[in-house]
Amino acid sequence: MTSTDATPETTLPALDQTERVILRAAEEEGGLGCPCDLLVVGDTTGALTAAALDLLAEHPDARVYSWNTSRAETDALAAAFAGPLAEGRLVLATDTEPRALEEFAAGSEAHLVLARLPKSLAGLEDLARRLGVLAAATDREDLTLVAGGRVKHMTRSQNETLETVFAEVRGSRGLGKSRALVASSPRPGTEAPAPTTGSATVPVRGARRELSLCGVGGVFGGARADAGSLLLLDALDRALVAGEVAAETAIDLGCGNGLLTAYLAAALPDAQVLGSDDDADAVAATRATLAANGLERESVQVTWETSLSRQAEASADLVLLNPPFHDGTVVDATLVQGLLDAAARVLRPGGQLWFVHNSHLRYRPELGARFGSVRQRTRDRRFTVLSAVR
Ligand SMILES: C[S@@+](CC[C@H](N)C(=O)[O-])C[C@H]1O[C@@H](n2cnc3c(N)ncnc32)[C@H](O)[C@@H]1O
Repeated sequence: MTSTDATPETTLPALDQTERVILRAAEEEGGLGCPCDLLVVGDTTGALTAAALDLLAEHPDARVYSWNTSRAETDALAAAFAGPLAEGRLVLATDTEPRALEEFAAGSEAHLVLARLPKSLAGLEDLARRLGVLAAATDREDLTLVAGGRVKHMTRSQNETLETVFAEVRGSRGLGKSRALVASSPRPGTEAPAPTTGSATVPVRGARRELSLCGVGGVFGGARADAGSLLLLDALDRALVAGEVAAETAIDLGCGNGLLTAYLAAALPDAQVLGSDDDADAVAATRATLAANGLERESVQVTWETSLSRQAEASADLVLLNPPFHDGTVVDATLVQGLLDAAARVLRPGGQLWFVHNSHLRYRPELGARFGSVRQRTRDRRFTVLSAVR
């Protein structure tokens, strides 16, 4: 990493090829222009934020706005760049409640946006639309997005998605196996992204009920029900009807589009229910799902936090967990550790964890290390549902 007084408090990885192609394409766009705040979106490592701070080193009044849907990544940026943050040269969305990108960035004077291409087309459309709304609301007709990715993951559909919001979209020169798309001239009249919609039929205390589902941005699964979660709900609902599970406080840890949170709110009408996710899009999607099913009430909350960091120890009777097993395309069995630790911390003694995992992975020992009475509740070719008692 090149660095001036933007030197972060912790060691960051060097810029990778995609980040270097983003910066080169931005430079070829004519640099920063001024006023020259920069908006960085979805910086997972801090390397792009550090480079943006370096670029602005000569412009004492300019600021880097770095926006991330992940709470953990936002907190990591805050820890790594405590100095620039305190000096006001870096602005992060560290609020407890997630804010929409266009609202966060409206406070900036950025005309240039640096981003990695979101993994999904839905995520890219969401980003493009939010920037279109930002451009219209703040009269930034020259707002330009430079979004980079690995060539093998780039498709023509990404250009087409950007073209729905930007009049000009072109590819940059490649650098190794990475390339950037440069989107400029936002079209007037772009509408804010609306949630995508879907539905799932689930058992609620033995009766079939159709639940509406909403997808926002890059939320896991979009508006579709995850097959593992449906298997978990079948087994859990049977246990609830049989009186094997009772809960006054229930948590859906990693709530995604809110399928499990909505189930809890419907099946436990007198309980305190919490849906919680590290991803701001998941928080918005879960809230939209609850609203679509008429399941909003004061005792049903949705929080943006990592691994239940704001929830008290021994405060819950039931935790549902359908954890992530992939980091991008790579299976990463360690992702689940922090989530199981979180479940063990917030469950009161006697409380239950219900957990679904891919059948080819072995998680029973992980549960055994933290909980007692681990039971396999059901299993099919793809998924296994376990319950465990704290
Ligand atoms: C496999 S998805 C399951 C989503 C949803 N519960 C469902 O059943 O469709 C896992 C979810 O966990 C969230 N997640 C990952 N790590 C997390 C963490 N440390 N704290 C909170 N949520 C996390 C992801 O953002 C994602 O929404």
